[in-house]
Amino acid sequence: MDIVHLHSKVIAEHDTPLLVLPVYEENDSSFISIPDELAHEIYNTVDGSMRPMFKEDVKSKMGESLLVYLRSDAGPQRILFVGLGEKSSLDSESLRRFGGHAVRGAESLGVSSLTIYPGCLESEVAKEFSQAVVEGAVMAQWDYNEMKTDLKKNKDKLLESLEVLAEEPIASQVKSGIEVGKIIGGASNFARTLQSRPGNVATPTHLGEEASRIASEYGLKVMVMGPEEIKANDMQALLAVSQGSSEEPRFIILEHEGGNPDDPPLVLVGKGLTFDAGGLSIKPSSGMEDMIFDMSGGASVIATLQGVAALGVSKNVIGLIPCSENLINGAAMKPGDIIGSKEGKTIEVINTDAEGRLILADALSYAQSFSPAAIVDCATLTGAVVVALGHHAAAVLGTDADLVEELKIAGERSGERCWPLPLWDEYRQQLDSEVADLSNVGGRSAGAITAACFLKEFVGDYKWAHLDIAGTAYGEGKLSYQRKGALGFPTRLLIEWIRSREE
Ligand code: BES
Ligand code: MG
Ligand code: ZN
Repeated sequence: MDIVHLHSKVIAEHDTPLLVLPVYEENDSSFISIPDELAHEIYNTVDGSMRPMFKEDVKSKMGESLLVYLRSDAGPQRILFVGLGEKSSLDSESLRRFGGHAVRGAESLGVSSLTIYPGCLESEVAKEFSQAVVEGAVMAQWDYNEMKTDLKKNKDKLLESLEVLAEEPIASQVKSGIEVGKIIGGASNFARTLQSRPGNVATPTHLGEEASRIASEYGLKVMVMGPEEIKANDMQALLAVSQGSSEEPRFIILEHEGGNPDDPPLVLVGKGLTFDAGGLSIKPSSGMEDMIFDMSGGASVIATLQGVAALGVSKNVIGLIPCSENLINGAAMKPGDIIGSKEGKTIEVINTDAEGRLILADALSYAQSFSPAAIVDCATLTGAVVVALGHHAAAVLGTDADLVEELKIAGERSGERCWPLPLWDEYRQQLDSEVADLSNVGGRSAGAITAACFLKEFVGDYKWAHLDIAGTAYGEGKLSYQRKGALGFPTRLLIEWIRSREE
């Protein structure tokens, strides 16, 4: 795919099989924000008696669309008008969905190139909005088809080129927005591909190989530990989870050195549980196949490192991904077992299905060795978070109110929202154990909070926040730029947060 920017003056003469234009609602009527020359061109091609009907049919509600064929020999052959909703409440997310609708329109027409004109953007938002359009368009094009043998069918759908038009004086902002949008959309798509790979392909070993591959491609430092090194680093909780499986565990470390060498890094930790059967506390078989997505946090951290490297972010960023399966064999950890951890704390395993917090515990302890400016982990950690917030926001919990607020803002700006839950000391009592330092489960109530309380035991005094993405990492994919399945969440959020720390 190819993204170029063109001067909007030539828009009426610009040859393209499909031009997509936005329609806003302003003062209760539809409003097409386009240069006069183009407006004339469109009106001239609409038969005079049809013009009132045309005006009536151009709708402005989000996602509503109208396809028009132009008569002239040169210039756009078709124009797809796509509604963006109320002009006054326009935000990045509207533009992201607009980009998605444009690609879906091109797909259903079967055209191989697409031209998007996002309208006359105000200069303060031009960069941000064009970034969002491109993110939406890039994400909309992604599909998971590498396991389908009938590749031709999928190839037919592929867009060969995507153009975004811009006019002076905002052309340079649009251009840099396009570059950023391409990278962030691409990073999110990479997370989606890793997420989508089935458990027999995306093993801990595979995630280690993919991390090494992108490290050499994007100039990241990488280290992938196997069982021996994990043992040497005393990650007993990670080993306890992985001992129930014949796949070897991995502990991945990716580093982007974008800041001064002595700047404390931002450390991201992602749960890389490549298949969660629950262990001996086995899950019901219905829906168990979704547990291939239990490495979504890890996928997102790998993709985020790819994104910050490609953007050349001026921060030191480290990604840690503990990778394991959670299965059952004769050596599997059992309910009632008491295990150790890198932190030195002992853990009573009441439920082997609460394994994410175990592998994250050791990764969080490891994170402390970098004396980080902040630690942020993301994990498909609890079904309880889905009960609390559904599929529209991740939960964010942490030890530092400013960090939680930064993540919440980054969530709004990136369209990957998170919402705070409390981490009061009272909840910690639910993890008290008669026989060990703490239990790995805290009972039925406040499950997402007690899971975070568990993690908090392993972060020392560092600023830390946790994103529970069990309800947001994958799903129905109803938005124009999504598909059912992997959603890449929270790759955009994390990149946005790291960039927000650049100033
Ligand atoms: N991977 C699951 C959490 C999950 C649930 C992810 C639904 C995506 C969708 C996690 O390992 C798990 O099994 N958590 C248990 C914890 C419980 C035993 C305390 C859960 O939420 O049921
Ligand atoms: Mg589990
Ligand atoms: Zn899990």
